[in-house]
Formats: sequence, C-alpha cells, structure tokens
Amino acid sequence: MTGLEIRPYSTAVGAEVLGVDLSRPLDDDVWSAIHGAFLDRLVLFFRDQTLTPRQQVDFSRRFGELEEYPFVRGLDGYPELIEIVKEADEFVNFGHDWHVDMTFRERPPTGAVLYAVEVPPVGGDTLFANMYLAWEMLSDGMKAVLRQVAGVHDSGEPSRHARNFRGMRMREREGGERRTAAHPFVRAHPETGRESLLISPSYCRRIEGMTDEESAMILGHLGRHATQDRFTCRFRWEPGSVAVWDNRCLMHVALEDDLAALGGGKGFRRTMRRATIGA
Ligand code: SIN
Repeated sequence: MTGLEIRPYSTAVGAEVLGVDLSRPLDDDVWSAIHGAFLDRLVLFFRDQTLTPRQQVDFSRRFGELEEYPFVRGLDGYPELIEIVKEADEFVNFGHDWHVDMTFRERPPTGAVLYAVEVPPVGGDTLFANMYLAWEMLSDGMKAVLRQVAGVHDSGEPSRHARNFRGMRMREREGGERRTAAHPFVRAHPETGRESLLISPSYCRRIEGMTDEESAMILGHLGRHATQDRFTCRFRWEPGSVAVWDNRCLMHVALEDDLAALGGGKGFRRTMRRATIGA
C-alpha cells in the first residue's frame, strides 16, 4: 500500500486521499483503508483523477449497488450516472440548498460519488456538514423532543427540479412523480451504530403533529445549528476531483456563487458526473 495517505480536511469532517488511482481496480488493503476513512471522515476527496464512465461505475460499486436518480435520466449506456450541469448563464446550482440526498424516499441512498468534469478556477464549491456532531451537540431537552416526532420530507413536483437546469436530462416529462416520506430526526448509522441528526432543509417541510409555524421555528433552528461552520468543510473542485460522501450521516450543498450569472452576464459552466450508491 505504498504511497496511500489520508489527510483530514477540517476538524469536523472530510479527508483528502492521496496516492491512489481510482481508474484501476483497488487492492483489498487499499480498499480497506479507504472504506475505514469513509466511515471515519464521512466524505473523501481525491484529486487529479481521469475516469471514464465505466471506471467511475466500477469504483463507485465498491461502496454498494448503484441506482438511477429519480428525476434525472442517466447517460446513454450508463443509466446509473447522471450529469449535473450548470450552464454559464445559469445561476442556480443543482443541489443548491443544504440537503441529505433523496430523503423524500423511505430509504434514502447510502451515498454518492461525484466527479468534476468541468469546473471554474474559483466558484462552485461544495460544503459538507457532519450530522453526528449536529446531533451530539444538541441539548438533552431538544434531543428528547426530537425523539418523539418525525419530519415530513417532500420532493416537490418534478417540474421544480427541471426549472433551472437547461443542460440536464430532467425526467419531468417522463413520469417522474412527487414523493413524500416521514423520518425520525435521529437515525443510527447501519455500519458505525452512531446516532446522527436527520434533517434535510431542501425537502423537510414540517414536523408531524405540529403547526406550520411550530415546524418552521424548530426546522429553522435545526438547519442553522447543523450547518454552523465548525461542523463543516468546504471543498474546492478542480477538473478530475472526486468526492465520495456518506449520505447516512452527512448533509451537503452546492454553493450558489456564480455572481456574474446572477447579474445577467456570462458566468462559469460547471459539469459534474454523479453515481448514486443505493440504500
Ligand atoms: C448534489 O447535491 O448531488 C450536487 C452537489 C454538487 O454539484 O456539488
């Protein structure tokens, strides 16, 4: 295992993995180190990779079976890979609110592998927040309340997703359906057993048994609490960067900071290729 190095990225979350070529099959000892770091650091970053769709699928499958993305059609020949595209004149990024992936489903996915195809020299970073810490740092009183209730997660209409993403193969006209699911606010990780907070501000609309006003107050507080800087890291992409995240204990957001596009001018194009690891 010569050359493999794992460097923590912030105190709370993330690690950079150096000395590995993801386009090649991984030896068992390298895989075991990567998998251990994945469970420990929640999101792993790799730089300077060159991955064909086939190689991305093969690497991603080490983490589990892959699944298709509900509202976006996959690549020809690789239905489990989608392209996330922000055109240069678009401001809104796909994944632009803090979220846990697809919590509008009964069983949200295990994680995702995101590969940067085209990214600007600055801008379009992705932030990640550690939901173990978010749960552990709540008061005992808030934890007791949250253990009694469930959050209602709603995908919204598929057209909501299609609205801003001209460069993407959205499924809105191909039978994508609105979905909802209720989830407890605390969940135990299936591999580590550690408890984490489950909120997903992009999808969690209300708390069962509470009024809209009460829900908004508590969800607003939890969203601010969970995304405070000390629980996060911020990844700056380069072409060929790869991030692998654990959706079972982590939130993320694609930063919406193309200010040139916001001002009506020509901003930057950003293209990522994503595999989703099934539940
Ligand atoms: C996502 O939420 O899947 C997209 C994240 C990103 O593009 O940075």
